[in-house]
Amino acid sequence: MNTELLFAPFKAGNLSLPNRIVMAPMTRNFSPQGIPGHDVAEYYRRRAENAVGLIITEGTAINHPAAVETTGIPNFYGDGLKGWVKVVEEVHAAGGKIIPQLWHVGTARKIGAANQPNPEALPVGPSGISPAGEKVVEPLTETEIADIIAAYAQAAADAKRVGFDGIELHGAHGYLIDQFFWDKTNKRTDQYGGNLVQRTRFAVEVIEACRRAVGPDFPIVLRFSQWKMYHYGEKLAQTPEELEQFLAPLVKAGVDVFHCSSRRFWEPEFEGSDLTLAAWTKKLTGKPVITVGSIGLEKAFLSELEKPHHNEIDKTKIDKSNSVQARLEQLVGLVEREEVDLVAVGRALLVDPAFAVKLRDHQTEEIIPYSDEVLKSLN
Ligand SMILES: Cc1cc2nc3c(=O)[nH]c(=O)nc-3n(C[C@H](O)[C@H](O)[C@H](O)COP(=O)(O)O)c2cc1C
Repeated sequence: MNTELLFAPFKAGNLSLPNRIVMAPMTRNFSPQGIPGHDVAEYYRRRAENAVGLIITEGTAINHPAAVETTGIPNFYGDGLKGWVKVVEEVHAAGGKIIPQLWHVGTARKIGAANQPNPEALPVGPSGISPAGEKVVEPLTETEIADIIAAYAQAAADAKRVGFDGIELHGAHGYLIDQFFWDKTNKRTDQYGGNLVQRTRFAVEVIEACRRAVGPDFPIVLRFSQWKMYHYGEKLAQTPEELEQFLAPLVKAGVDVFHCSSRRFWEPEFEGSDLTLAAWTKKLTGKPVITVGSIGLEKAFLSELEKPHHNEIDKTKIDKSNSVQARLEQLVGLVEREEVDLVAVGRALLVDPAFAVKLRDHQTEEIIPYSDEVLKSLN
């Protein structure tokens, strides 16, 4: 297999990367009291030293009391930010590039759960409801929305100030930004609700505020997904036309790169075409895209939680009939046809910091195999 293309340099605007391998954002809960320490800096440095072209950090909390679930998730403010400065230094010293994933979980924060930062803070969400439509809290007021947008912008400005190479906004998987996108969690009747395009308004204001905070040249990546946690068959856009309408305001607001989160990078997104979500996004926006999902692995992320939908084939069975090697060849094909620009690797890089270097040097048999057991032991 010729993996050379995965290790060709990439440049878009101010984002210059030595190769196409990106470390996907992965929460680890290893930052006591929200402060990433020396071990976190070493963890990212190991990936930078081993041919990862761009590191996207684990989700890190913007400065809002209900941004995240546990005290082990790193903060992107106060002493947490001081910890990140060391991480940036280590990664840059190893010749790597790194961007933080700015995160607010919205109503995914459980009321009264143990080990929460600011236990008195209630979760927040566009309509204050769960995906099943149950009331959790009051809907966000416009003033509260403005405060959260300001917290994203402050985080973006801080990312630039302390030397990160860009930012990623976590707009995927059913967390706050995605709760605004999704009709099951956004029932607002003001300017933040309505049809799919109108439901992009919150994200648009977040992106615009971040863009104002960092200027025209600092890379802004937006991660979005069709699927949501516990709702794996969901789709924001049912057709390419809807996807185009959804993406247009986000491009206009200032997104430089779309990180299209899917759980199997090879799956066609819409009937009648082989194109994946990432390939469609690139075709419809002209922007560079990152693909992700089961690279170097047999089992999709969270597949044990996924029940096949009515009339749907059990995808876990399809995975096993296709070797990891064949999938990697497919991945190279996507890059070769310029359907995708960058490829994000999650679990494979979690268990083996040298995954990328072994792939580059044709030592794939040396790659430490992923298993859920190994993953548990890392957390
Ligand atoms: C332990 C773990 C933590 C994760 N945390 C995040 C996160 O903080 N933000 C995010 O956008 N995705 C998160 N993800 C999803 C990954 O970024 C990635 O999309 C997913 O694992 C699929 O890629 P993979 O098949 O290569 O692992 C997480 C995944 C894992 C396994």
